[in-house]
Amino acid sequence: MGKNLLQGKRGIIFGALNENSIAWQVALKCVEEGASIVLTNAPVAAKIGQTEALATQLNAPLIYADVTKMEDMENLVSESVAKLGGKLDFVLHSVGMSLNVRKKVPYTELNYDWMHTTIDISAISFHRLMQVLWKQDAVNEWGSVLALTYIAAQRVFPDYSEMADAKSMLESIARSFGYHFGKRNHVRVNTISQSPTYTTAGSGVGGFDAFFNYSNTMSPLGNASSETCADYCISLFSDYTKMVTMQNLFHDGGFSSTGIAQDLMESFASEAGK
Ligand SMILES: NC(=O)c1ccc[n+]([C@@H]2O[C@H](COP(=O)([O-])OP(=O)(O)OC[C@H]3O[C@@H](n4cnc5c(N)ncnc54)[C@H](O)[C@@H]3O)[C@@H](O)[C@H]2O)c1
Repeated sequence: MGKNLLQGKRGIIFGALNENSIAWQVALKCVEEGASIVLTNAPVAAKIGQTEALATQLNAPLIYADVTKMEDMENLVSESVAKLGGKLDFVLHSVGMSLNVRKKVPYTELNYDWMHTTIDISAISFHRLMQVLWKQDAVNEWGSVLALTYIAAQRVFPDYSEMADAKSMLESIARSFGYHFGKRNHVRVNTISQSPTYTTAGSGVGGFDAFFNYSNTMSPLGNASSETCADYCISLFSDYTKMVTMQNLFHDGGFSSTGIAQDLMESFASEAGK
């Protein structure tokens, strides 16, 4: 049962590919909390994803747009404002893709054409989105723009490869654009740094099971699920977080502040005693 935290608000949700997608859970909760939303995804998602089924379930317009194409983004934002009947109050950027990771290219041997694509899809697209929102003056005062990121932006997780570089840039764009959007429209811009989560993008990272289990053991609260991530997104779209902006917010069960977990200490102690 929702609490009407987003009653009367309008938003766009990027990246709900299938029910494992973090954005899928966010879309469900936005509607449960009283918002009207537009769903969007890459045109290829029409073939490989279930975004359309979600759009039908939520009675939400679905507008396909490739985040690397300016004209797609312009059309998406203007059409969304028209279909929802007014300016937007929130936007979730839940988009990421790495060709080098997908093709298992080692970090020391990156293909730069692919790296350009990775950075365009996973980071520059956030700037492109905000530039379009800005130029069309499409966001209401005190609106909220969010993107999803991962702690590899701050610390090395070798298998995360070039996505770490893309996420660093994404977080920097949130701060830089957040300044301008705050000054002009009181719009806040933040990134949520989420625990490893079993999704199409997440499971594409090499050794994901080990990644997930390590993080789950290290975090005092365990890994954060996509459902709890959706709750956090709702709070950041709501009027209860109006003065939070230009932040990278960890939603990770305490992982980012933990040096070592007792369980791991014990496993190393028994190794040493052998
Ligand atoms: N899963 C994790 O472990 C994890 C952890 C932290 C952060 N994140 C981030 O969460 C976000 C959502 O990913 P997810 O884990 O839900 O996986 P997902 O695969 O379900 O979502 C990624 C989405 O990006 C979309 N996309 C890719 N290229 C696109 C393009 N050119 N134009 C428009 N859309 C495009 C895909 O269609 C898909 O819907 C990503 O930014 C990801 O990096 C994921």
